[in-house]
Amino acid sequence: FVADIDATDTEKGLYPHYMLKEIDEQPSVMRKLISEYLTEDGKTTIDENIISHMASSDRIYIVGCGTSWHAGLVGKKIIEELTNIPVEVHLASEMGYDMPILSEKPFFIFLTQSGETADSRQVLVKVNELNLPSLTITNVKGSTLSREATYTLLLHAGPEIAVASTKAYTSQIAVMAYLAQSIGLKKGLEKASSIDLAHEMAIIASIMDSMISEKELIADLSESFLGTTRNAFFIGRGLDYAVSMEAALKLKEISYIQAEGFAAGELKHGTIALIEEGTPVISIITDEKTASHTRGNAKEVESRGANVLTISLENVAQEGDQLVLLPVHELLTPLVSVVPLQLLAYYASLQRGLDVDKPRNLAKSVTVE
Ligand code: G6P
Repeated sequence: FVADIDATDTEKGLYPHYMLKEIDEQPSVMRKLISEYLTEDGKTTIDENIISHMASSDRIYIVGCGTSWHAGLVGKKIIEELTNIPVEVHLASEMGYDMPILSEKPFFIFLTQSGETADSRQVLVKVNELNLPSLTITNVKGSTLSREATYTLLLHAGPEIAVASTKAYTSQIAVMAYLAQSIGLKKGLEKASSIDLAHEMAIIASIMDSMISEKELIADLSESFLGTTRNAFFIGRGLDYAVSMEAALKLKEISYIQAEGFAAGELKHGTIALIEEGTPVISIITDEKTASHTRGNAKEVESRGANVLTISLENVAQEGDQLVLLPVHELLTPLVSVVPLQLLAYYASLQRGLDVDKPRNLAKSVTVE
């Protein structure tokens, strides 16, 4: 089943908020991307020019802002693993003024849902002045960054109206996975051929579906863990750390709870001073290699009074974890772990009676630097 996600679908329908609709659309977007990026016999549909250009680069620079930057942190891991090309992820608003020392054959990826973000565009202008190759990954066909980059790949997520980005994040990660695999295959890398993306993405879509059907559970967790709190911490390692930062951003954007995402091991180097009786700490655990360490960090804060909520995958779950998701490929865990965290932020905002889709002081597309 592929939902009708197209550029004209800007209605909320029966949904109370665009954000909830957009969270719900993620499984359909994942299924749509399988058919957009892979042929029936599993071959990539990505333009051969993009693949060979990237395969011959010696370093990839991912540029973005906000949620797109967070997707870039996940993309870095996927691209490095599947292509053996080193990747740097940069905040556009910093890179515009402080270009790092570039490699000999750099290639730039601009991640931007809207394709209009001024901070990202100013970097693209510089990249074009230097005559360097670039790819914009965007949801909006014909957008400024898409027109000005060497190449474009589309997110096919349908219009994202809520200010808090959800389906753009997951589709950016998915598109980077298809891209990374096709580059890795071009380079003849074993790692790239060992992952069956169509199969993995289909599993991910159904796990997202089951997560979404358990909304009520997450609404309850939001009420009991976030209640009237003024601050919250998210912790994880590796990809779970990247998701922690995105989860914290979602929460602060729409619930105005002061939230931070931390590398689980780093909390004790300072921020643990903020932990008081009842401080919510959301621990994300999806990786077998680091699970026991993150659990140790969760214990440290728990013993100082924190209220720990653990989200884990079945293969690393322990009794007492509040939310356990079915396992997925280790490079793609953010695609499932982020969904309950988006819902957690949604309900926190709703329960506080706030404007979920149009939070104060924020704009969907920021066209000033
Ligand atoms: C704004 C939005 C964020 C978004 C960021 C980047 O600040 O409020 O939700 O992540 O811009 O937007 P882009 O369209 O470039 O992905």
